[in-house]
Amino acid sequence: MTPRRVVLLTAVLSAAAFVLPETAAVASAPHGTPGSVGSGDPYFPRQGNGGYDVSHYRLAVHYVPGTKRLSGVAHVTARATMTLSRFDLDLRGNLHVSSVRVNGHRAAYRQPKKLVQELVITPRHALRAGRRFHVTVHYAGTARPVTDPDGSLDGFIPTDDGAFVASEPQGAPTWYPVNDTPRDKATYAVSITVPKGLTAVSNGALTGRHAHGRLVTWSWALHQRVSSYLVTATLGRFAVSRGRTSSGVPYLTAVDPREAAAKPVLKQLPAIVDYFSKVYGRYPFGQAGAIVDHAHKVGYALETATRPLFDRAPDVATLSHELAHQWYGDDVTVAKWRDIWLNEGFAEFSSWLYTEHTGGQTTAQHLATLLANPASDSDEWLPPPGNPGSGKGIFADSVYDRGAGTLAALRQLVGDRTFFAIMRGWLPAHRYGNATVGQFTAFAQRVAHRNLTHFFYEWLYKNGKPTG
Ligand code: ARG
Ligand code: ZN
Repeated sequence: MTPRRVVLLTAVLSAAAFVLPETAAVASAPHGTPGSVGSGDPYFPRQGNGGYDVSHYRLAVHYVPGTKRLSGVAHVTARATMTLSRFDLDLRGNLHVSSVRVNGHRAAYRQPKKLVQELVITPRHALRAGRRFHVTVHYAGTARPVTDPDGSLDGFIPTDDGAFVASEPQGAPTWYPVNDTPRDKATYAVSITVPKGLTAVSNGALTGRHAHGRLVTWSWALHQRVSSYLVTATLGRFAVSRGRTSSGVPYLTAVDPREAAAKPVLKQLPAIVDYFSKVYGRYPFGQAGAIVDHAHKVGYALETATRPLFDRAPDVATLSHELAHQWYGDDVTVAKWRDIWLNEGFAEFSSWLYTEHTGGQTTAQHLATLLANPASDSDEWLPPPGNPGSGKGIFADSVYDRGAGTLAALRQLVGDRTFFAIMRGWLPAHRYGNATVGQFTAFAQRVAHRNLTHFFYEWLYKNGKPTG
């Protein structure tokens, strides 16, 4: 090779170095496009992200109650649904990210203040449509819940002895990086490190408890796919006990000793699980149970998957409501928050049904009591359960009461045989998935072989008391 040719080749190569990245990128490593900032829920527009689908979260979190310091490492396994140059996870800004790796390579990231809960990740290489990828995020900060449009605390809520972790509808990003849409269901392995003497409870099976120095790590694994709002990492002083229902479902309860009133109520847990298994079909998860904390400022309970969470000792109606959600809410989940009736109306109706089963008021009597409320009593009737209007309305009394009344009225209209065929058939049709109110009403019509348009209009959508 002559010196002249070397120079020439260098010139060509450096020119190529300038030009090539683009052309080469198109040929072998596509640029891709950024995934969207939300997932299109009009009530919570920043929730969720576009361009990928998570299959598994492996979370290791550490919480120090004394300082409220929350730190964690999240391993997220996902599949790109389009070729991505960039994508977001949802994580609140009080949790500062210190490193992000994508497929083992350091990735660039930002947490723009004005985007509130977006962790914007730019991987070294575009992520190809259809391919699996792995993200590891290290983060830490002072724990802080969010306040929902209805004024309730949501997410990682510090308590006097630990934390109450309830994330419906938008709390998950207060404790882990997540594609926070109810439509992206995933399996979970959660381990929680706390000071010795405290118990940390998540979903599914207890897979380990390891003491190291002054700390203890509790590990849990959930093998069925669930929505992000149904995952918990509640910790504090708890007495743990275990058992099996008559039909063989293992259960674990964790009860704050200050809520001893829970004991006699929890005695009914196995019977409730078995009763709903009988009327609705097999229990959807491998474990059952309950977590009863002493966290009265929260003011609500949540149907965390496999193990519902209570802010105080529940009564039987509340316990059966949350257990029924394992079928209606946790197995079959809303596609959008506007569909909340599929969760709350069904769980509340189920609690009426359990009351009837144990010799109390029938669902027909409950319905008559509901209908005795005058049309002027707007809290009972508005917003209509099929269209609660905004994030503020999703947990309104009418969604629960008029929502349960809808099913009690349907039962009367079509009779028990058809009604329970609808309730049971609905589940396998959407197992571990999501559904809309429109899909349910269409399904009910098909099973009942009759036009129910007017009925559902009156009960679910009319802007006032239905004509019963
Ligand atoms: N789904 C819960 C229940 O069983 C209610 C959650 C209320 N959450 C809230 N942020 N207001 O009824
Ligand atoms: Zn509920």
